Amino acid sequence: MSEPAGGAIEGARFSDDRPYGILIVDDEEAILESLALTLGTDYRVFTVTSGEEGLAILEREDVALIVADQVMPSMSGVEFLEKAIERNPGAIRMMLTGYADIGSLARAINEGRIYRYIAKPWEPDEVRLNVRRALEAYALTSENVHLAAALGDANERLRAENLYLRREVERRYGFDQIIGASPEMERVFEVMEKVAETDTTVLITGETGTGKDLVARAIHHAGSRKERRFVAQNCAALPDTLLESELFGHKRGAFTGAHADKQGLFAVAHRGTIFLDEVAETQPGMQVRLLRVLQDGEIRPIGSSDTHNVDVRVIAATNRDLPEEVKEERFREDLYYRLRVVEIPIPPLRARRGDVPLLADHFLEAANRRMGRSIRGFTNAAMDRLSGHSWPGNVRQLENEIERCVALSGDVDILGVEMLSDELRVGATTSVAAPRDALLNDAVDALKRAMIRDALQETGSKTGAARKLGIPRQSLQKMMKRLEME
Ligand SMILES: Nc1ncnc2c1ncn2[C@@H]1O[C@H](COP(=O)(O)OP(=O)(O)OP(=O)(O)O)[C@@H](O)[C@H]1O
Ligand SMILES: [Mg+2]
Repeated sequence: MSEPAGGAIEGARFSDDRPYGILIVDDEEAILESLALTLGTDYRVFTVTSGEEGLAILEREDVALIVADQVMPSMSGVEFLEKAIERNPGAIRMMLTGYADIGSLARAINEGRIYRYIAKPWEPDEVRLNVRRALEAYALTSENVHLAAALGDANERLRAENLYLRREVERRYGFDQIIGASPEMERVFEVMEKVAETDTTVLITGETGTGKDLVARAIHHAGSRKERRFVAQNCAALPDTLLESELFGHKRGAFTGAHADKQGLFAVAHRGTIFLDEVAETQPGMQVRLLRVLQDGEIRPIGSSDTHNVDVRVIAATNRDLPEEVKEERFREDLYYRLRVVEIPIPPLRARRGDVPLLADHFLEAANRRMGRSIRGFTNAAMDRLSGHSWPGNVRQLENEIERCVALSGDVDILGVEMLSDELRVGATTSVAAPRDALLNDAVDALKRAMIRDALQETGSKTGAARKLGIPRQSLQKMMKRLEME
Protein backbone atom coordinates (compact mmCIF):
# COMPACT_ATOMS: atom_id res chain seq x y z
CA MET A 1 0.00 0.00 0.00
CA SER A 2 1.15 3.51 -0.75
CA GLU A 3 0.57 4.80 2.81
CA PRO A 4 3.70 4.66 4.91
CA ALA A 5 3.67 1.73 7.29
CA GLY A 6 1.37 2.49 10.13
CA GLY A 7 -0.23 5.50 8.49
CA ALA A 8 -3.79 5.94 9.53
CA ILE A 9 -6.25 6.81 6.87
CA GLU A 10 -7.48 10.00 8.36
CA GLY A 11 -10.44 11.72 6.84
CA ALA A 12 -10.29 15.13 8.51
CA ARG A 13 -14.05 15.20 8.85
CA PHE A 14 -14.12 12.05 10.91
CA SER A 15 -11.03 12.38 13.03
CA ASP A 16 -12.92 13.16 16.24
CA ASP A 17 -15.82 10.76 16.25
CA ARG A 18 -14.19 7.51 15.28
CA PRO A 19 -13.49 5.97 18.65
CA TYR A 20 -12.09 2.63 17.56
CA GLY A 21 -8.81 1.84 15.87
CA ILE A 22 -8.60 -1.11 13.46
CA LEU A 23 -5.31 -2.62 12.34
CA ILE A 24 -5.36 -4.50 9.02
CA VAL A 25 -2.38 -6.64 7.97
CA ASP A 26 -2.25 -8.09 4.45
CA ASP A 27 0.58 -8.44 1.93
CA GLU A 28 -1.75 -7.53 -0.93
CA GLU A 29 -2.14 -3.76 -1.17
CA ALA A 30 -5.36 -4.00 -3.14
CA ILE A 31 -7.02 -5.78 -0.25
CA LEU A 32 -5.79 -3.17 2.22
CA GLU A 33 -7.13 -0.40 0.04
CA SER A 34 -10.50 -2.01 -0.38
CA LEU A 35 -10.92 -2.73 3.35
CA ALA A 36 -9.78 0.78 4.25
CA LEU A 37 -12.42 2.11 1.92
CA THR A 38 -15.10 -0.06 3.50
CA LEU A 39 -14.19 0.78 7.09
CA GLY A 40 -12.38 4.13 6.95
CA THR A 41 -15.43 6.31 7.40
CA ASP A 42 -16.41 4.82 10.76
CA TYR A 43 -13.08 3.77 12.20
CA ARG A 44 -9.46 4.83 12.39
CA VAL A 45 -7.92 2.29 10.08
CA PHE A 46 -4.20 1.41 10.14
CA THR A 47 -2.99 -0.64 7.17
CA VAL A 48 0.37 -2.44 6.92
CA THR A 49 1.74 -5.15 4.65
CA SER A 50 3.55 -7.35 7.18
CA GLY A 51 3.23 -8.81 10.66
CA GLU A 52 6.41 -7.02 11.76
CA GLU A 53 4.96 -3.64 10.87
CA GLY A 54 1.69 -4.66 12.50
CA LEU A 55 3.46 -5.33 15.82
CA ALA A 56 5.10 -1.91 15.59
CA ILE A 57 1.67 -0.28 15.24
CA LEU A 58 0.38 -2.17 18.26
CA GLU A 59 3.25 -0.72 20.29
CA ARG A 60 2.03 2.83 19.83
CA GLU A 61 -1.59 2.88 18.72
CA ASP A 62 -4.80 2.19 20.55
CA VAL A 63 -6.34 -0.62 18.56
CA ALA A 64 -9.61 -2.37 19.26
CA LEU A 65 -9.70 -4.81 16.33
CA ILE A 66 -6.94 -6.62 14.46
CA VAL A 67 -7.60 -8.15 11.04
CA ALA A 68 -4.83 -10.31 9.59
CA ASP A 69 -4.45 -12.21 6.37
CA GLN A 70 -3.76 -15.88 6.93
CA VAL A 71 -1.07 -16.42 4.33
CA MET A 72 1.73 -13.85 4.25
CA PRO A 73 5.36 -14.28 3.11
CA SER A 74 7.43 -13.57 6.25
CA MET A 75 5.20 -13.95 9.31
CA SER A 76 2.00 -15.93 8.94
CA GLY A 77 -1.29 -14.53 10.11
CA VAL A 78 -1.52 -17.03 12.98
CA GLU A 79 2.00 -16.23 14.17
CA PHE A 80 1.26 -12.53 14.01
CA LEU A 81 -1.99 -12.82 15.94
CA GLU A 82 -0.33 -14.91 18.63
CA LYS A 83 2.29 -12.17 19.10
CA ALA A 84 -0.39 -9.51 18.93
CA ILE A 85 -2.10 -11.05 21.98
CA GLU A 86 0.98 -10.26 24.04
CA ARG A 87 1.01 -6.59 22.98
CA ASN A 88 -2.70 -5.98 23.15
CA PRO A 89 -4.60 -8.78 24.86
CA GLY A 90 -7.88 -6.84 24.78
CA ALA A 91 -8.17 -6.35 21.04
CA ILE A 92 -10.54 -8.56 19.05
CA ARG A 93 -8.79 -10.65 16.38
CA MET A 94 -10.19 -11.59 12.98
CA MET A 95 -8.64 -13.59 10.19
CA LEU A 96 -8.83 -13.04 6.43
CA THR A 97 -8.64 -16.26 4.55
CA GLY A 98 -8.53 -16.92 0.84
CA TYR A 99 -9.55 -20.54 0.87
CA ALA A 100 -11.54 -22.60 3.27
CA ASP A 101 -8.92 -25.09 4.39
CA ILE A 102 -10.65 -26.36 7.49
CA GLY A 103 -7.48 -27.71 9.11
CA SER A 104 -5.48 -24.49 8.99
CA LEU A 105 -8.55 -22.47 9.87
CA ALA A 106 -9.13 -24.55 12.97
CA ARG A 107 -5.49 -24.03 13.94
CA ALA A 108 -5.86 -20.32 13.40
CA ILE A 109 -8.98 -20.16 15.49
CA ASN A 110 -7.53 -22.25 18.31
CA GLU A 111 -4.05 -20.80 18.51
CA GLY A 112 -4.66 -17.26 17.46
CA ARG A 113 -7.83 -17.18 19.51
CA ILE A 114 -9.74 -15.71 16.61
CA TYR A 115 -13.10 -14.10 17.08
CA ARG A 116 -14.23 -14.71 13.47
CA TYR A 117 -12.88 -15.16 9.96
CA ILE A 118 -13.69 -13.24 6.84
CA ALA A 119 -13.59 -15.29 3.65
CA LYS A 120 -12.16 -13.73 0.53
CA PRO A 121 -13.85 -12.36 -1.50
CA TRP A 122 -16.26 -10.60 0.81
CA GLU A 123 -19.34 -8.42 0.68
CA PRO A 124 -18.57 -4.95 2.11
CA ASP A 125 -21.81 -4.91 4.07
CA GLU A 126 -21.03 -8.25 5.63
CA VAL A 127 -17.60 -7.00 6.65
CA ARG A 128 -19.10 -3.88 8.17
CA LEU A 129 -21.61 -5.96 10.11
CA ASN A 130 -18.95 -8.36 11.38
CA VAL A 131 -16.71 -5.51 12.41
CA ARG A 132 -19.53 -3.76 14.21
CA ARG A 133 -20.37 -6.94 16.15
CA ALA A 134 -16.73 -7.52 16.99
CA LEU A 135 -16.41 -4.00 18.35
CA GLU A 136 -19.57 -4.39 20.40
CA ALA A 137 -17.99 -7.44 21.96
CA TYR A 138 -14.83 -5.41 22.52
CA ALA A 139 -16.81 -2.61 24.19
CA LEU A 140 -18.49 -5.09 26.49
CA THR A 141 -15.27 -6.80 27.53
CA SER A 142 -13.42 -3.56 28.09
CA GLU A 143 -16.37 -2.25 30.05
CA ASN A 144 -16.22 -5.42 32.12
CA VAL A 145 -12.53 -4.91 32.67
CA HIS A 146 -13.20 -1.37 33.81
CA LEU A 147 -16.03 -2.48 36.04
CA ALA A 148 -13.90 -5.19 37.55
CA ALA A 149 -11.16 -2.67 38.18
CA ALA A 150 -13.63 -0.22 39.66
CA LEU A 151 -15.07 -3.00 41.82
CA GLY A 152 -11.59 -3.92 42.94
CA ASP A 153 -10.93 -0.29 43.84
CA ALA A 154 -14.22 -0.01 45.67
CA ASN A 155 -13.50 -3.18 47.60
CA GLU A 156 -10.10 -1.90 48.52
CA ARG A 157 -11.63 1.37 49.65
CA LEU A 158 -14.26 -0.47 51.70
CA ARG A 159 -11.60 -2.59 53.33
CA ALA A 160 -9.63 0.50 54.24
CA GLU A 161 -12.76 2.23 55.46
CA ASN A 162 -13.67 -0.79 57.52
CA LEU A 163 -10.30 -0.83 59.12
CA TYR A 164 -10.60 2.88 59.77
CA LEU A 165 -14.04 2.44 61.34
CA ARG A 166 -12.84 -0.42 63.47
CA ARG A 167 -9.95 1.74 64.69
CA GLU A 168 -12.38 4.58 65.24
CA VAL A 169 -14.64 2.35 67.32
CA GLU A 170 -11.68 1.05 69.27
CA ARG A 171 -10.52 4.61 69.83
CA ARG A 172 -13.98 5.77 70.82
CA TYR A 173 -14.46 2.91 73.24
CA GLY A 174 -10.86 2.64 74.27
CA PHE A 175 -9.53 3.05 77.78
CA ASP A 176 -8.12 6.44 76.85
CA GLN A 177 -11.62 7.80 76.34
CA ILE A 178 -12.26 7.17 80.01
CA ILE A 179 -10.87 10.21 81.71
CA GLY A 180 -9.54 9.96 85.22
CA ALA A 181 -6.24 10.09 87.05
CA SER A 182 -7.44 9.76 90.63
CA PRO A 183 -6.20 6.74 92.58
CA GLU A 184 -9.83 5.52 92.56
CA MET A 185 -9.95 5.50 88.76
CA GLU A 186 -6.45 4.04 88.52
CA ARG A 187 -7.81 1.08 90.46
CA VAL A 188 -10.73 0.80 88.04
CA PHE A 189 -8.34 0.82 85.04
CA GLU A 190 -6.17 -1.81 86.64
CA VAL A 191 -9.05 -4.24 87.09
CA MET A 192 -10.42 -3.48 83.62
CA GLU A 193 -7.10 -4.31 82.07
CA LYS A 194 -6.89 -7.58 83.95
CA VAL A 195 -10.38 -8.76 83.03
CA ALA A 196 -10.38 -7.55 79.42
CA GLU A 197 -8.36 -10.52 78.19
CA THR A 198 -10.48 -13.03 80.08
CA ASP A 199 -14.03 -14.30 79.66
CA THR A 200 -14.86 -13.63 83.28
CA THR A 201 -18.29 -12.31 84.11
CA VAL A 202 -18.00 -8.76 85.37
CA LEU A 203 -20.35 -6.75 87.52
CA ILE A 204 -19.96 -3.00 87.24
CA THR A 205 -21.52 -1.02 90.06
CA GLY A 206 -21.83 2.68 90.62
CA GLU A 207 -24.28 5.53 90.82
CA THR A 208 -25.98 6.82 87.73
CA GLY A 209 -23.68 8.64 85.32
CA THR A 210 -20.42 7.26 86.69
CA GLY A 211 -19.46 5.64 83.38
CA LYS A 212 -20.62 2.03 83.73
CA ASP A 213 -21.60 1.87 80.07
CA LEU A 214 -18.29 3.32 79.02
CA VAL A 215 -16.36 0.82 81.12
CA ALA A 216 -18.38 -2.16 79.80
CA ARG A 217 -17.69 -1.19 76.17
CA ALA A 218 -14.04 -0.53 76.82
CA ILE A 219 -13.63 -3.98 78.38
CA HIS A 220 -15.22 -5.59 75.31
CA HIS A 221 -13.12 -3.60 72.86
CA ALA A 222 -9.89 -4.29 74.69
CA GLY A 223 -10.34 -8.05 74.65
CA SER A 224 -10.15 -10.82 72.10
CA ARG A 225 -13.91 -10.69 71.49
CA LYS A 226 -13.73 -7.23 69.99
CA GLU A 227 -14.21 -8.54 66.44
CA ARG A 228 -17.57 -9.91 67.52
CA ARG A 229 -20.65 -8.07 68.65
CA PHE A 230 -21.19 -6.11 71.80
CA VAL A 231 -24.93 -6.03 72.48
CA ALA A 232 -26.45 -4.08 75.31
CA GLN A 233 -29.85 -4.58 76.87
CA ASN A 234 -31.32 -2.36 79.52
CA CYS A 235 -33.19 -4.80 81.76
CA ALA A 236 -35.37 -2.04 83.23
CA ALA A 237 -36.63 -0.93 79.82
CA LEU A 238 -38.98 -3.83 79.06
CA PRO A 239 -41.68 -5.85 80.82
CA ASP A 240 -40.60 -9.39 81.69
CA THR A 241 -42.00 -11.34 78.72
CA LEU A 242 -40.64 -8.89 76.19
CA LEU A 243 -37.28 -8.85 77.89
CA GLU A 244 -37.20 -12.64 77.80
CA SER A 245 -38.00 -12.70 74.09
CA GLU A 246 -35.43 -9.98 73.49
CA LEU A 247 -32.68 -11.89 75.29
CA PHE A 248 -33.54 -15.50 74.42
CA GLY A 249 -35.61 -15.16 71.25
CA HIS A 250 -38.88 -16.89 70.47
CA LYS A 251 -40.48 -19.36 68.09
CA ARG A 252 -43.15 -18.23 65.71
CA GLY A 253 -46.54 -18.41 67.40
CA ALA A 254 -45.06 -18.65 70.91
CA PHE A 255 -47.34 -15.82 71.97
CA THR A 256 -49.74 -13.34 70.41
CA GLY A 257 -47.78 -11.17 68.06
CA ALA A 258 -44.92 -13.63 67.54
CA HIS A 259 -45.34 -13.73 63.76
CA ALA A 260 -41.95 -15.19 63.00
CA ASP A 261 -39.01 -16.85 64.71
CA LYS A 262 -36.82 -14.30 66.40
CA GLN A 263 -33.21 -14.65 67.42
CA GLY A 264 -32.42 -13.44 70.92
CA LEU A 265 -29.55 -11.18 71.91
CA PHE A 266 -27.64 -14.02 73.56
CA ALA A 267 -27.54 -15.74 70.17
CA VAL A 268 -26.66 -12.49 68.41
CA ALA A 269 -23.80 -11.95 70.84
CA HIS A 270 -22.39 -15.46 70.27
CA ARG A 271 -18.59 -15.26 70.68
CA GLY A 272 -19.04 -11.63 71.67
CA THR A 273 -20.26 -9.80 74.73
CA ILE A 274 -23.69 -9.08 76.15
CA PHE A 275 -24.12 -6.14 78.47
CA LEU A 276 -27.00 -6.53 80.91
CA ASP A 277 -27.58 -3.01 82.12
CA GLU A 278 -29.65 -2.34 85.27
CA VAL A 279 -29.65 -6.04 86.02
CA ALA A 280 -31.13 -5.44 89.49
CA GLU A 281 -34.46 -4.52 87.87
CA THR A 282 -35.09 -8.08 86.60
CA GLN A 283 -37.99 -10.15 87.95
CA PRO A 284 -37.42 -13.48 89.76
CA GLY A 285 -38.34 -15.59 86.70
CA MET A 286 -35.84 -13.76 84.54
CA GLN A 287 -33.20 -14.11 87.23
CA VAL A 288 -33.59 -17.90 87.09
CA ARG A 289 -33.12 -17.87 83.32
CA LEU A 290 -30.07 -15.68 83.55
CA LEU A 291 -28.60 -17.99 86.15
CA ARG A 292 -29.08 -20.89 83.74
CA VAL A 293 -27.15 -19.17 80.92
CA LEU A 294 -24.38 -18.20 83.27
CA GLN A 295 -24.12 -21.72 84.69
CA ASP A 296 -24.54 -23.86 81.58
CA GLY A 297 -24.21 -21.47 78.66
CA GLU A 298 -27.64 -22.69 77.56
CA ILE A 299 -30.50 -20.72 76.10
CA ARG A 300 -34.02 -21.74 75.16
CA PRO A 301 -36.15 -19.48 72.95
CA ILE A 302 -39.72 -18.94 74.18
CA GLY A 303 -42.01 -21.60 72.72
CA SER A 304 -39.14 -23.89 71.81
CA SER A 305 -38.44 -27.25 73.40
CA ASP A 306 -34.80 -27.17 72.35
CA THR A 307 -31.99 -25.52 74.19
CA HIS A 308 -28.76 -24.54 72.55
CA ASN A 309 -25.38 -23.42 73.70
CA VAL A 310 -23.93 -19.99 73.31
CA ASP A 311 -20.49 -18.65 74.03
CA VAL A 312 -21.15 -15.20 75.39
CA ARG A 313 -19.27 -13.06 77.80
CA VAL A 314 -21.58 -11.38 80.27
CA ILE A 315 -21.02 -7.93 81.70
CA ALA A 316 -23.72 -6.67 84.03
CA ALA A 317 -24.23 -3.29 85.62
CA THR A 318 -26.40 -1.79 88.30
CA ASN A 319 -26.67 1.42 90.25
CA ARG A 320 -28.38 -0.38 93.12
CA ASP A 321 -26.85 -1.80 96.22
CA LEU A 322 -27.09 -5.48 95.21
CA PRO A 323 -26.20 -7.02 98.59
CA GLU A 324 -29.05 -4.94 99.99
CA GLU A 325 -31.36 -6.22 97.21
CA VAL A 326 -30.31 -9.77 98.09
CA LYS A 327 -30.99 -9.16 101.75
CA GLU A 328 -34.45 -7.83 100.90
CA GLU A 329 -34.95 -10.96 98.74
CA ARG A 330 -35.51 -8.94 95.63
CA PHE A 331 -32.43 -10.39 93.94
CA ARG A 332 -31.33 -14.03 93.92
CA GLU A 333 -28.22 -14.57 95.95
CA ASP A 334 -26.87 -17.31 93.62
CA LEU A 335 -27.24 -15.00 90.61
CA TYR A 336 -25.52 -12.22 92.50
CA TYR A 337 -22.48 -14.41 93.12
CA ARG A 338 -22.49 -15.63 89.52
CA LEU A 339 -22.46 -12.05 88.27
CA ARG A 340 -19.90 -10.61 90.59
CA VAL A 341 -17.06 -12.97 89.78
CA VAL A 342 -15.21 -9.74 89.35
CA GLU A 343 -16.79 -6.55 90.58
CA ILE A 344 -15.74 -3.14 89.36
CA PRO A 345 -17.15 -0.49 91.64
CA ILE A 346 -16.93 2.95 90.07
CA PRO A 347 -16.79 5.59 92.77
CA PRO A 348 -19.10 8.60 92.53
CA LEU A 349 -17.50 11.76 91.16
CA ARG A 350 -17.62 13.55 94.51
CA ALA A 351 -15.38 10.83 95.94
CA ARG A 352 -12.71 11.59 93.34
CA ARG A 353 -12.82 15.34 92.99
CA GLY A 354 -9.34 15.34 91.55
CA ASP A 355 -10.83 14.06 88.29
CA VAL A 356 -13.21 17.01 87.93
CA PRO A 357 -10.76 19.45 86.28
CA LEU A 358 -9.59 16.75 83.84
CA LEU A 359 -13.15 15.83 82.93
CA ALA A 360 -14.25 19.48 82.71
CA ASP A 361 -11.40 20.27 80.30
CA HIS A 362 -12.17 17.14 78.29
CA PHE A 363 -15.85 18.02 77.95
CA LEU A 364 -15.02 21.68 77.22
CA GLU A 365 -12.77 20.61 74.38
CA ALA A 366 -15.46 18.32 72.99
CA ALA A 367 -18.14 21.02 73.24
CA ASN A 368 -15.79 23.56 71.62
CA ARG A 369 -15.28 21.21 68.74
CA ARG A 370 -18.97 20.44 68.36
CA MET A 371 -20.11 24.04 68.51
CA GLY A 372 -17.17 25.62 66.73
CA ARG A 373 -16.00 27.62 69.77
CA SER A 374 -12.57 28.22 71.17
CA ILE A 375 -13.15 28.79 74.87
CA ARG A 376 -9.81 28.37 76.64
CA GLY A 377 -10.93 27.14 80.04
CA PHE A 378 -12.49 28.08 83.36
CA THR A 379 -11.75 30.84 85.84
CA ASN A 380 -10.29 29.57 89.11
CA ALA A 381 -13.50 30.42 90.91
CA ALA A 382 -15.60 28.49 88.39
CA MET A 383 -13.31 25.48 88.61
CA ASP A 384 -13.54 25.63 92.41
CA ARG A 385 -17.32 25.48 92.17
CA LEU A 386 -17.14 22.54 89.78
CA SER A 387 -14.68 20.66 91.96
CA GLY A 388 -16.63 21.36 95.12
CA HIS A 389 -20.03 20.30 93.81
CA SER A 390 -21.59 17.06 95.02
CA TRP A 391 -22.63 15.93 91.47
CA PRO A 392 -25.54 13.60 92.23
CA GLY A 393 -25.69 12.85 88.48
CA ASN A 394 -21.93 12.28 88.41
CA VAL A 395 -19.94 12.54 85.17
CA ARG A 396 -23.07 12.73 83.02
CA GLN A 397 -24.24 15.75 84.97
CA LEU A 398 -20.84 17.40 84.70
CA GLU A 399 -20.84 16.75 80.97
CA ASN A 400 -24.28 18.34 80.63
CA GLU A 401 -23.26 21.29 82.78
CA ILE A 402 -20.28 22.06 80.56
CA GLU A 403 -22.28 21.59 77.38
CA ARG A 404 -24.89 23.99 78.70
CA CYS A 405 -22.25 26.57 79.69
CA VAL A 406 -20.66 26.49 76.26
CA ALA A 407 -24.01 26.68 74.49
CA LEU A 408 -25.18 29.68 76.51
CA SER A 409 -21.90 31.52 76.98
CA GLY A 410 -21.79 33.33 73.67
CA ASP A 411 -18.45 34.56 72.47
CA VAL A 412 -16.31 34.37 75.60
CA ASP A 413 -12.69 33.50 76.12
CA ILE A 414 -13.05 31.82 79.48
CA LEU A 415 -15.95 30.44 81.51
CA GLY A 416 -16.66 32.19 84.83
CA VAL A 417 -18.88 31.39 87.80
CA GLU A 418 -21.68 33.54 86.36
CA MET A 419 -21.99 31.05 83.49
CA LEU A 420 -22.65 28.08 85.76
CA SER A 421 -26.15 26.85 86.43
CA ASP A 422 -28.02 27.95 89.56
CA GLU A 423 -27.42 24.65 91.28
CA LEU A 424 -23.68 25.22 91.25
CA ARG A 425 -23.71 28.93 92.08
CA VAL A 426 -26.26 28.73 94.89
CA GLY A 427 -25.38 25.29 96.19
CA ALA A 428 -21.78 26.24 96.72
CA THR A 429 -22.50 29.45 98.61
CA THR A 430 -24.96 27.89 101.02
CA SER A 431 -22.83 24.89 101.75
CA VAL A 432 -19.61 26.65 102.70
CA ALA A 433 -20.16 30.36 103.19
CA ALA A 434 -20.94 31.61 106.65
CA PRO A 435 -24.05 33.66 107.23
CA ARG A 436 -23.41 37.42 107.09
CA ASP A 437 -23.44 39.50 110.24
CA ALA A 438 -23.50 36.39 112.41
CA LEU A 439 -21.67 35.81 115.63
CA LEU A 440 -18.51 33.80 115.21
CA ASN A 441 -19.89 30.72 116.97
CA ASP A 442 -23.05 30.72 114.87
CA ALA A 443 -21.01 31.03 111.72
CA VAL A 444 -18.73 28.18 112.76
CA ASP A 445 -21.76 26.02 113.55
CA ALA A 446 -23.26 26.73 110.15
CA LEU A 447 -20.02 25.73 108.50
CA LYS A 448 -19.88 22.54 110.58
CA ARG A 449 -23.45 21.67 109.64
CA ALA A 450 -22.73 22.19 105.96
CA MET A 451 -19.56 20.13 106.04
CA ILE A 452 -21.16 17.29 107.97
CA ARG A 453 -24.14 17.26 105.61
CA ASP A 454 -21.80 17.10 102.58
CA ALA A 455 -19.70 14.35 104.12
CA LEU A 456 -22.76 12.27 104.92
CA GLN A 457 -24.10 12.71 101.44
CA GLU A 458 -20.77 11.80 99.94
CA THR A 459 -19.97 8.73 101.96
CA GLY A 460 -23.44 7.53 102.75
CA SER A 461 -22.68 6.67 106.38
CA LYS A 462 -21.66 8.27 109.66
CA THR A 463 -18.55 6.13 109.85
CA GLY A 464 -17.49 7.29 106.39
CA ALA A 465 -18.31 10.91 107.12
CA ALA A 466 -16.35 10.85 110.36
CA ARG A 467 -13.34 9.40 108.59
CA LYS A 468 -13.60 12.02 105.89
CA LEU A 469 -13.84 14.83 108.40
CA GLY A 470 -10.97 13.42 110.41
CA ILE A 471 -12.84 13.00 113.72
CA PRO A 472 -13.87 9.93 115.70
CA ARG A 473 -17.35 8.61 114.98
CA GLN A 474 -18.55 9.36 118.54
CA SER A 475 -17.44 12.98 118.24
CA LEU A 476 -19.39 13.28 115.01
CA GLN A 477 -22.45 11.84 116.67
CA LYS A 478 -22.17 14.22 119.63
CA MET A 479 -21.56 17.16 117.34
CA MET A 480 -24.60 16.32 115.23
CA LYS A 481 -26.73 16.12 118.36
CA ARG A 482 -25.52 19.48 119.59
CA LEU A 483 -26.05 20.99 116.13
CA GLU A 484 -29.55 19.50 116.15
CA MET A 485 -28.92 17.63 112.99
CA GLU A 486 -30.62 14.30 113.72
N1 LIG B 1 -14.48 8.69 83.14
C1 LIG B 1 -15.16 9.24 82.13
N2 LIG B 1 -14.51 9.89 81.15
C2 LIG B 1 -15.19 10.46 80.13
N3 LIG B 1 -16.51 10.44 80.01
C3 LIG B 1 -17.22 9.81 80.96
C4 LIG B 1 -16.58 9.17 82.06
N4 LIG B 1 -17.52 8.62 82.83
C5 LIG B 1 -18.69 8.88 82.24
N5 LIG B 1 -18.52 9.60 81.11
C6 LIG B 1 -19.58 10.10 80.24
O1 LIG B 1 -20.70 10.38 81.04
C7 LIG B 1 -21.90 9.94 80.45
C8 LIG B 1 -22.56 8.87 81.30
O2 LIG B 1 -21.77 7.70 81.31
P1 LIG B 1 -22.42 6.24 81.28
O3 LIG B 1 -23.60 6.23 80.40
O4 LIG B 1 -21.35 5.27 81.01
O5 LIG B 1 -22.91 6.15 82.79
P2 LIG B 1 -23.68 4.97 83.51
O6 LIG B 1 -22.91 4.67 84.75
O7 LIG B 1 -23.91 3.86 82.58
O8 LIG B 1 -25.03 5.69 83.90
P3 LIG B 1 -26.48 5.01 84.14
O9 LIG B 1 -26.41 4.26 85.45
O10 LIG B 1 -27.38 6.21 84.26
O11 LIG B 1 -26.77 4.15 82.98
C9 LIG B 1 -21.52 9.42 79.10
O12 LIG B 1 -21.69 10.43 78.14
C10 LIG B 1 -20.06 9.07 79.24
O13 LIG B 1 -19.40 9.21 78.02
MG1 LIG C 1 -25.65 3.10 81.77
